[in-house]
Amino acid sequence: MTPNIETLPKVELHIHIEGSLEPELMFALAERNGIQLPYASVEEVRQAYQFSNLQSFLDIYYAGACVLLTAQDFYDMTWAYLLRCQADQVRHTEIFFDPQTHTDRGVPFATVIEGISQALRDGETQLGISSRLILCFLRHLSAEAAMQTLEQALPYRDHLIAVGLDSSETGHPPEKFQAVFDRARAEGFLTVAHAGEEGPPEYIRQALDLLQVKRIDHGVQCIHDPALVDRLVAEQIPLTVCPLSNVKLCVFDRLEQHNLKQLLGRGVCVTVNSDDPAYFGGYIGENFRATQQALNLDQEAIYQLSVNAINAAFLDSAAKHKLQQDLEAWRHTH
Ligand code: ADE
Ligand code: ZN
Repeated sequence: MTPNIETLPKVELHIHIEGSLEPELMFALAERNGIQLPYASVEEVRQAYQFSNLQSFLDIYYAGACVLLTAQDFYDMTWAYLLRCQADQVRHTEIFFDPQTHTDRGVPFATVIEGISQALRDGETQLGISSRLILCFLRHLSAEAAMQTLEQALPYRDHLIAVGLDSSETGHPPEKFQAVFDRARAEGFLTVAHAGEEGPPEYIRQALDLLQVKRIDHGVQCIHDPALVDRLVAEQIPLTVCPLSNVKLCVFDRLEQHNLKQLLGRGVCVTVNSDDPAYFGGYIGENFRATQQALNLDQEAIYQLSVNAINAAFLDSAAKHKLQQDLEAWRHTH
């Protein structure tokens, strides 16, 4: 029997809020803000979403974010994502944002975080979706710029659960950001990092040892280092895997070749997430559906992926217990 993905209560741990900006909203915000986009239509934007690797995506993704200027813009983008969460039965979501993409264009840090945070509060009260916010440093920029960004964030520490690391991985190892992450942990932030998306297993080791991360974002390249896989299993380090993203960015040629099932079978704490759903052709529900089909995942595997996400969430044990109860109800009615 095919597991019922539609009704599965979901937890998302890897979503860049700027990556949820659909072309329709991009055009609406461009018009509202008097910005000229380099595309004639929504269809033309979608046609441009053909990527050969991470960098080819990032170039287009950063260009798209230029329509975001006001707190209302950030609110509207975040609210649209939360409505998609509601449709996908997402109960809890942990969201990345990239402040430097905006502050480097002259948009104040306060504008960005206030717009996103207000939508997240409304998501909790109006939709019953709990959330956490994670500030990501852009690793293609300097460690000094990351440190300045961390300092800008300190007045908003109550809005943030963790800091992370994203953007161009190759040539920008985690060690570059060791001092920033030391400071962030000293200030009370949890840490995560993108590692082993395109980059080598060594970057995953650095993220664990030097940045002391609680989760690895992507991490699929661990497969080339069996001793590292053993360590991920022994320490139950969660991997926030994004299957459709990995195919769109040519990390795997086809979803059928994805190593998620193999890692899950080895006992790695793997989770399923959407990364940049507006760009990669699917939100978390579609990621589950497509992966279930491509890898022929059974009910037990879907259940385990969901247990993993609850365990990996930055929530207290009472909140995790509630999510677990929801999941058990799903398991027993299907
Ligand atoms: N920023 C948004 N999506 C990303 C990804 N998949 N890898 C690195 N940085 C990102
Ligand atoms: Zn990502």
